[in-house]
This record gives sequence, structure tokens and C-alpha cells, in this order.
Amino acid sequence: MTDAMSAEFDTVAEWTAQVCTRLGADYYLPAACRGSGSPQALDWLINRLGLSPGCALLDSGAGVGGPAAYAVHTNAVHPVLVEPEAGACRAARRLFGLPVVQASGSALPLADATFDAAWSLGVLCTMPDQLGLLTELRRVVRPGGGIGLLVFVATRDIAADEQPEGNTFPTADGLRELFAAAGLTLDDEQCAAELAGEQQDWEDRADKVDAEVADRYSDTEAWRTSQQQSERMGALLGEGAVVGMLYALRAS
Ligand SMILES: C[S@@+](CC[C@H](N)C(=O)[O-])C[C@H]1O[C@@H](n2cnc3c(N)ncnc32)[C@H](O)[C@@H]1O
Repeated sequence: MTDAMSAEFDTVAEWTAQVCTRLGADYYLPAACRGSGSPQALDWLINRLGLSPGCALLDSGAGVGGPAAYAVHTNAVHPVLVEPEAGACRAARRLFGLPVVQASGSALPLADATFDAAWSLGVLCTMPDQLGLLTELRRVVRPGGGIGLLVFVATRDIAADEQPEGNTFPTADGLRELFAAAGLTLDDEQCAAELAGEQQDWEDRADKVDAEVADRYSDTEAWRTSQQQSERMGALLGEGAVVGMLYALRAS
């Protein structure tokens, strides 16, 4: 993990949880889902993976835990979170009280076929070992269980100084090769931005948390670095150079 990634996924993640606890529980989910987008994207994944009450869900690269907490809230799943950054692990425990393991998604300290389903949202493009992430997800999900991904896919060549430090965006074709190499079959895919739904209130709450974090910490190097990472990502998304894609997969 580079210093820039640690600023974004560790330091600012923990600050986000601190601000959330001050603002109140209504702010937890929107702020803690910042990395994965909208309730509509999560609903699409929950539906395609067939998540139902009591089902064991692994969230690999869980960040602050918002997506798993959303699935608990809407579908009463039993999640386990895996996340390499200590600050994000603490934030997820503090906001949602969910079980969190500090580890890398490419070396899960979990037994084979333990979960009914797994997802990994906005994580693959932040890791050098992208095939390792996919093969580990396949290993820990029981045969027939669903695997969900949100991946930011490149639609053109992206120069190193355009992208958030430490990120590598796969192309759609490269991603299909990774799925095949990991023994995964694609059931369905969806461009996340094309999912309809009103979410102004959700975005307003997330924005308020971001603004409070900025008020408190904008004079720090970690905040400035994290902000630069976000701005680079925002520019690429705004131009359409990367597109957030949702995938529902199954072991072949
Ligand atoms: C854009 S954030 C997404 C967080 C969360 N999945 C969400 O949707 O809100 C990317 C996350 O991937 C995590 N990550 C980076 N490298 C990882 C690795 N090798 N294994 C698992 N997670 C990793 C980061 O620490 C960060 O929490």
C-alpha cells in the first residue's frame, strides 16, 4: 500500500468514522459507502447474488463497512469483513460493530467454502494481485455461491499521473481474462451509473461528513493527499475514462 493509499483508506477512513459518531447514526451508511456508490448498486448486487436473511457474506476490502452494514440493514445477512488498513478496521467496528479481520484479499485467513456469497467493491483496481483477489473469493465461497464485484474499468489508456496513486484499472477484456483465469463465470453485469434512483438525501449526508472532515483536517498532509486521490478519480469518472461496472459471478 502506498502512502497516498494509506492516507485515503486508513487515516481519512478513521477520521470519517469519528465525524460520523459526532453527527449521528443517520450519517453512518452514506459516509461509509463512499467507496462503492449508491444504494441502487448495492441493491443490484444483493438481488443478483440472492442474498437472504442469515446468509454468510464475505466483504473483501470492506473499507469502513458501509456496504456490509447496508446488506445487514436491508437483508439481515451475517457478514464478515476483511480489510488490510487498521484505521478502516477500527472505523467499521466503531460504526457498525461488525466482525472484521485485518488481512489482504489476496491471502484470506479463512477456510475453503465458508461463505454463501462474497463481494469486493471498488477494491480490485487498488491491488497489484488482481487474480489473487478473485481466486481467493472463489476459494472461500461454497460451490454455487455468488460473487459480486464493483470494478472501475478503463475505457482508454490512462497515464500514471492521471490515476490515483497505486491504482491499476483493468480494461473490460482484461477483466474477462481474469475471470476465466480465476475459474469464474459471469452471470450478469451492469454499468453502476445507469441504475436509476433518487439518492439526493443520501449524497447530501455523505457530503456533510466529507465537509466536516475537511473543516477539521484540511491543513494536514494526509487530508491533502487523500483529496488529490479523490480528485483524480473524480476527473477520470467525469470524463468517462473509467466506468464503474457491477458484476455477478459464480464459480465455473
Ligand atoms: C475504494 S475503497 C472501497 C471500500 C469499500 N469496499 C466500499 O465499497 O466502501 C478500496 C478498499 O480496498 C482496500 N484494499 C486495498 N488493497 C487491498 C487488498 N490487498 N486486499 C483487500 N482490500 C484492499 C482499501 O484498504 C480500501 O478499503
